[in-house]
Amino acid sequence: MGRCPSCNAWNSFKEVPTTKSRLLNGEPEGLFESHNALQLLSDIRPDTLERVKTPLEDLNLVLGGGFVPGSMVLLAGEPGIGKSTLALQSILGLPNQKTLYVTGEESAAQIWQRAQRIGLKPGACHVLPDVTLEALLQTLSDLRPSLTVVDSIQTLSDPRLEASPGSIVQIRECAARITRAARGLHMPVLLIGHVNKEGDVAGPKLLEHMVDVVLYFEGDRHHHFRLLRAQKNRFGSTQELGIFEMGPSGLREVRDPSRVLISATREACSGSVLCLASEGTRSFLVEVQALVSPAVYGTPQRMSSGFDIRRLNMLLAVLEKRCGMRMSQKDVFVNVTGGIRLEDPAADLAVVAALCSSWLDAPPPPRAAFSGEVGLTGEVRPVLRLEQRLSEASRMGIECIFLSAAHKEALRPEAPESVLVSSVRQLMHRTFNPAGPEPVPV
Ligand code: TYD
Ligand code: MG
Repeated sequence: MGRCPSCNAWNSFKEVPTTKSRLLNGEPEGLFESHNALQLLSDIRPDTLERVKTPLEDLNLVLGGGFVPGSMVLLAGEPGIGKSTLALQSILGLPNQKTLYVTGEESAAQIWQRAQRIGLKPGACHVLPDVTLEALLQTLSDLRPSLTVVDSIQTLSDPRLEASPGSIVQIRECAARITRAARGLHMPVLLIGHVNKEGDVAGPKLLEHMVDVVLYFEGDRHHHFRLLRAQKNRFGSTQELGIFEMGPSGLREVRDPSRVLISATREACSGSVLCLASEGTRSFLVEVQALVSPAVYGTPQRMSSGFDIRRLNMLLAVLEKRCGMRMSQKDVFVNVTGGIRLEDPAADLAVVAALCSSWLDAPPPPRAAFSGEVGLTGEVRPVLRLEQRLSEASRMGIECIFLSAAHKEALRPEAPESVLVSSVRQLMHRTFNPAGPEPVPV
C-alpha cells in the first residue's frame, strides 16, 4: 500500500516477515499419552499423586501445599531479587529425589558456588547448562526429575525458530512445549521469568495465561526482606504471603514477622504508627511512617514506598475534603518499614493515622495499632479476618486497636481494648484529641 488509510501518510508501510511459530514432530517419542477423549465428568479419576513439598514452608503455603505434579509454576521478579536462590534452595531441599536445574543465566560452576553458599548438600540434583528446548525435553523424558527449574525462560530457545531467545515467539513456543511435557510426565516445572520495574516485559505477562501458578518474588533490594505472593493459583488461594529474609547463606523464612518488622525499643514519635496487617493466613504488625511538611516547590511532592501511591493520593483527597486538611500545599512522604509492600486494604487507617499524626506533630497513643479500610466518603470500613488480627495484637502486647465501628458486634470482651471509629474525622478526634468535643459527623 502506498498510502496509510488511517493516518494518510505516504510510504509509511514496512514489510515484516512472519515467523514460523509452530513446529511439527518436535517431541521425543512416547512422551505424551492422549488425554483428549470425551469423558463423563463423573468418570474422571484425578491423579492421586502427592504434592512435591519443599522444606521451605512459606513456599509450600503460597503454592497451596506444594508443587502439584504436572503443573507449571512461573516465578517472576526483578533481576537480583533472589529468584535463582529460591529455586535452588527448593530443589536442594529435596536431596533424596532426582531434580533438575536448567540454567541459561549462569554456568554450572556458578550454580555449584551458590549451592556452597546456601550450604545444602547437592544430593541428586542435576544441572543442565544447555538452553535449547530439545535438550531440555530429552533430559526431562530420560531423567524424569521430581522437580525441574528452568532459569530462565527468557534464555531458553528452539534454534529451529527464526526468533531470538526472549522473544514472544520463542517464549510462547518453549512454554507451550514444556507444559505439554510436564503434563505428560506428571512432573512439576518451575519457570523463572524476569520482569522490569514496570512489570511489563512481554515474557512473564504472556506466560501468565499459559501457566497454572504465577508467583511474584518482590522486595526492596536495599532491605533483606522478600515477599512471595501468588498472583494466580489454579490449586490454591492467592491470599497467602511468604516472608523471607536474604542472608549470607541464602533465604531464610521469617517465622515471626512482627518481631522483626517493629523495633523493640520503639518510642512514640509523631508520624509513626503501627499497622495491624493481615495477608492470607498470617497477621503481623508493621510500622507505617508519614511525613507531612510545607511544599517547597509549586507542585507538592508525593512519595510512597511500600504503599500504593494512587491509594495514598486518594486518602489525601479524603483528608482534604472530610477533615479540611489542606494537603495540596504539603509535601507528603509515606514509608512502610522493612521494605515490605502492603496490599491489605486495612493499611488505609494506619496511613491516615500516620498522616494526621505528622500533620498535628502529635504521637499516637502508646501501644496502639490501626486496622481499617477507608472509603471515599471518609467512612472507616470493616476488615477481614478480625479474630486473627486481634490475637496477633494481644500476642504482641498491643493495648489499644483502632477499628471500624462496624466491628461492634463481632468484638469479644477478652480482646485488647478497641477504639471504634466510623470516619476519618472521628479517628482524628479519638486518636489525638480524645478530651475535646466530639466533631460533627460529616
Ligand atoms: P539471585 O538469586 O541471583 O537473584 P535473581 O535470580 O532474582 O537475579 O540473588 C541475587 C542477590 O542475592 C545477589 O545480589 C546476592 C544475594 N545473595 C545473598 O545475599 N546471599 C546468598 O546466600 C545468595 C545466594 C545471594
Ligand atoms: Mg537468577
